[in-house]
Amino acid sequence: MDIFYSPMHTFLLIFSILFYLLMRKQSNNNRSLQGKLPLPPGSMGWPYIGETFQLFSQDPNIFFPSRQERYGEIFKTHLLGCPCVMLASAEAARFVLVSKAQLFKPKYPRSKERLIGPWALFFHQGGYHAIVRKLVQSSLSPESIRRLVPDIDAVASATLRSWDGHMLSTFHAMKEMSFDVGILIIFGEHLSKQRKNEIKRNYFIVDKGYNSFATSIPGTAYSNAIKARKRLGEILSEIMEERREHKTMEKDLLSCFLEWKNDKGERLSDNQISDNIFGVLYAAQDTTASVITWMVKYLHDDPKLLEAVKAEQMSIYKRNGCGSQQLQWAHTRKMPFTQRVISESLRMASIISFTYREAVADVEYKGYLIPKGWKVMPLFRNIHHSSEYFPDPHKFDPSRFKASPKPNTFLPFGNGVHSCPGNELAKIEMLVFIHHLVTKYRFEVVGSHSEVEYSPFPIPKHGLQVRIWSTEQADGIAE
Ligand code: HEM
Repeated sequence: MDIFYSPMHTFLLIFSILFYLLMRKQSNNNRSLQGKLPLPPGSMGWPYIGETFQLFSQDPNIFFPSRQERYGEIFKTHLLGCPCVMLASAEAARFVLVSKAQLFKPKYPRSKERLIGPWALFFHQGGYHAIVRKLVQSSLSPESIRRLVPDIDAVASATLRSWDGHMLSTFHAMKEMSFDVGILIIFGEHLSKQRKNEIKRNYFIVDKGYNSFATSIPGTAYSNAIKARKRLGEILSEIMEERREHKTMEKDLLSCFLEWKNDKGERLSDNQISDNIFGVLYAAQDTTASVITWMVKYLHDDPKLLEAVKAEQMSIYKRNGCGSQQLQWAHTRKMPFTQRVISESLRMASIISFTYREAVADVEYKGYLIPKGWKVMPLFRNIHHSSEYFPDPHKFDPSRFKASPKPNTFLPFGNGVHSCPGNELAKIEMLVFIHHLVTKYRFEVVGSHSEVEYSPFPIPKHGLQVRIWSTEQADGIAE
């Protein structure tokens, strides 16, 4: 058959011409946006440095809201060498993260990408991202988490036992706990103690370098982190090799990654797997630890709130053999008040104040131009602290969550294709930890805790120094 008369080829030719014309129109449209539309209001600060000094010298709780007050829900600024557009409304967050998500790609500093690993899902869009995300979601599904509740219970109990009678930084203790839970999700229960310690040692070196100045000068936190990250990749490759050799496949994230193949039989490479394993471990840790730290502070600051949480948890504790049995998934479904306290803590603390995207084309939003290449930041904290969406926003009031918040106003776990796949796990971790803390221990905060530090997320000063006692011991002393 003469190929020029093949209907298929005629169709492809017409399709290609239409596609080309459409793309040209799109690009002309975009080009025509430049010059026609104004940039959002706002100040670009000093040449090169922009408003970076103002951001770091002021509390972000002041920097962003003061600009929102002055310029409205969309404003421009210049931070860390990048022109940025900030968006502070529910509608704008939906525009960037959901309805026009294809126009905004995730963008992280190169130095961070290097430490986590370039194949980690946060840095990708499209087909590869969808494959990895599905695998991550399947190992964080309600069924998987349901199975893991008793193990999470064991981790939380062990954390509190090791804290008993001591004063510790809550954030530090919670980092250890969320690391252990992360290891459970990724490797199941079969990782040897020696391997776990090796991973932990290197992981915490990377963690230290993550927020330091990126330089290759030997001995600096960043260059040590790069070395430790390389070693972590090697350890993960050894574990993968052992699993393949012994054909030991479990119901954990690593097995999901190792077993996956597409229709052509192609699999994920070791680098792709180890970047994603490290990425999940990283995404799971400081986030969960920071929110629990805030929750402990909120409970400490309001004795009535603590009593109400305790009353709910004690009734479960008594029905569950006074701590003689492990918590199960079903118990966690009977904690509606504590769940509202968690939601309110997530809103109040808003530990992820904003997220980053980069415009891949010139985009129009509400008559303003968001130029191609500019950073775009939906401001979660401003949305959570807006009196329009949350009346009396600075009051800790769990009862506001008796009704569901309006769409796109409560975004502690983001929204759209990159929203947090670990949100259920994080909430279970918090419920289980709080259950054990309030039913078996008394605690007191030591020293000042009204100031905030950044690590990198906001946490109470010194990570909230807390002393705890088991109630058995405390009651014994009191007798
Ligand atoms: C309270 C704890 C947590 C908070 C507040 C939180 C928050 C978030 C937010 C806001 C995003 C979206 C970022 C964006 O759109 O740019 C995100 C993404 C992500 N989170 Fe979480 N997270 C938490 C815990 C966890 C846990 C426990 C895990 C895993 C076990 C996890 C894994 C991830 C991953 C893998 C992504 C990237 C998803 C993607 O790009 O498709 N997170 N998280």
